[in-house]
Amino acid sequence: MDVRPLHPLFAAELVGAELTLAPDDELVRTVEDAMARYGVLAIRDARISDEQQKEFSRAFGPLELPSRAKGAARPEGTRQYTPGIFHAGNLDHNDEIIPYGSDPKSLAKGAERFHTDSSFHAMPTKWSLLHGVETPPPSAGGDTWFVDARAAYDDLPDAMKGRIEGLVGLHDFWEGRKLAGFKAEITPEMRLIIPFPTVTHPLVRTMPYGRKALYIGGHCFGIEGMEPTEGLALIEDLYAHATQEKYFYRHQWKQWDLVIWDNRCTMHAATPLHSDAYRRDMRRTTINESGPETSAYEWMGLADAA
Ligand code: OGA
Ligand code: MN
Repeated sequence: MDVRPLHPLFAAELVGAELTLAPDDELVRTVEDAMARYGVLAIRDARISDEQQKEFSRAFGPLELPSRAKGAARPEGTRQYTPGIFHAGNLDHNDEIIPYGSDPKSLAKGAERFHTDSSFHAMPTKWSLLHGVETPPPSAGGDTWFVDARAAYDDLPDAMKGRIEGLVGLHDFWEGRKLAGFKAEITPEMRLIIPFPTVTHPLVRTMPYGRKALYIGGHCFGIEGMEPTEGLALIEDLYAHATQEKYFYRHQWKQWDLVIWDNRCTMHAATPLHSDAYRRDMRRTTINESGPETSAYEWMGLADAA
């Protein structure tokens, strides 16, 4: 196996890995080491099933499960979802293309702002693994962009590092949607459908290998104990700093790519397809550092209404 850098700061490609067999110690060590160094790891031509993706993912941590409602069996003739898999892409329950922008709540558009998966979840996630089962031609768009939040932290002036050390970020699913451009008021009905309360995570995370990273993705809208506008202004400053092009790795998908990212120290953003003519079927597993295999709803004691 060979690990080849894709960008001067982070992101690499793992070549020569065999993912169709149960992951052995060497593969697990190689992936853990590459992830610690590069934060994003792409494996091309990973022709694996949903079950194999889950088995591979579980070698690195317990799965975060989608809500029970999403995992439930669907009417015959409609698309069945594999339990434990989150679906990105543009296909609906009938396996038809969802025209871009037609979702009235713009839920998918939330992913177009740089974010880390499940930061609205009280339990911090470890990695996500996204598998391109059907991908559009490269010229059609749909690339995923990544930034290195460790390099962004390293580059902050010392005064800013001092100012943010020990601060705690406020993360909220619906506030994140507002930041991503969702214009309407957030109603109590919406809070019933997706009922996540505001949770907190440290603004600066220290990785197990010692590097620090900004943890400000997507759903972070304020700072504990700070006046709301002041907290948001600080988050927006840090977000603008961390999403400069010099921190970008742009992944152009090919069918069967598996891209792994560390949610603790990178952010990612979906980019739209230029046309509704192409199918994009992306399947994601997300893992936690430890704990039971459970959904955010179950872990936070919420009604699973989604
Ligand atoms: C995700 C995600 C981006 C994409 O699955 O978490 O943000 O380009 N996907 O599909
Ligand atoms: Mn995401």
